[in-house]
Amino acid sequence: MAVRLFEDKEHAAEYVKLRVTPDEVVRKIVTLLEKRVALPAKLALDVGCGSGQGTVLLAPFFNQVVGTDISPPSWSRPRQCPAEELPFDSGTVDLVTSMTAAHWFDRPRFLEEVNRVLRPGGCLALLTYAMDMELEYGDVSHKLREICFEARRTGSEEDHHVNGFIGLVHTFSAFRKFIETKPQEAEEFSNRIRNKLLDAMQVSSPETEVTMVTKYFYWIACKP
Ligand SMILES: C[S@@+](CC[C@H](N)C(=O)[O-])C[C@H]1O[C@@H](n2cnc3c(N)ncnc32)[C@H](O)[C@@H]1O
Repeated sequence: MAVRLFEDKEHAAEYVKLRVTPDEVVRKIVTLLEKRVALPAKLALDVGCGSGQGTVLLAPFFNQVVGTDISPPSWSRPRQCPAEELPFDSGTVDLVTSMTAAHWFDRPRFLEEVNRVLRPGGCLALLTYAMDMELEYGDVSHKLREICFEARRTGSEEDHHVNGFIGLVHTFSAFRKFIETKPQEAEEFSNRIRNKLLDAMQVSSPETEVTMVTKYFYWIACKP
């Protein structure tokens, strides 16, 4: 079953601004790939590329990088196609990545398709982050942790502010659904979380900088 999400412009803009970019993880993947393939390699595909903010990180290491997504392109380069039907010749791709997207795919069909397009020695890397992200601020980080836990019921380290964290929670698909179905409750919920964080930090500005800690995971599999 194909799922089309993240298509409205406002969501796409928030996504680009607020989501954490996995540059450190991409560097690790490229370091592993480099043991098998001379870089720059020929072709990388980033499947379920969305706004392409992860796709561009691959650019320095390949002659060509193509982002694909089932949704209409929100930037100039990606190709619109389902992950389960990649319009590339067999045995031509050096690296397939999917960043926080493979959970939406029909995975058995996707994996078969990846096996077809990868050349011998080519690799598949799936990246995603854990939902248990945390905020750190002075000596009240333990209090913020509990409030974050409440917020995400609906790594890398980044400097963010309180509003940035709330905005990030807004990009989660579960929260989008909450906004669509119960807009008033969703707004009250965000305001409550924002106020709890500010109270715990004993500050008044939601632009106060905090450190956001996100755990990223990746799986890499290479074709013999
Ligand atoms: C959470 S977003 C991740 C976007 C981007 N990779 C990133 O890291 O910011 C998931 C993306 O997967 C795409 N997607 C979902 N199902 C898909 C499918 N079957 N084939 C291709 N793309 C798909 C969505 O359109 C969306 O852009």
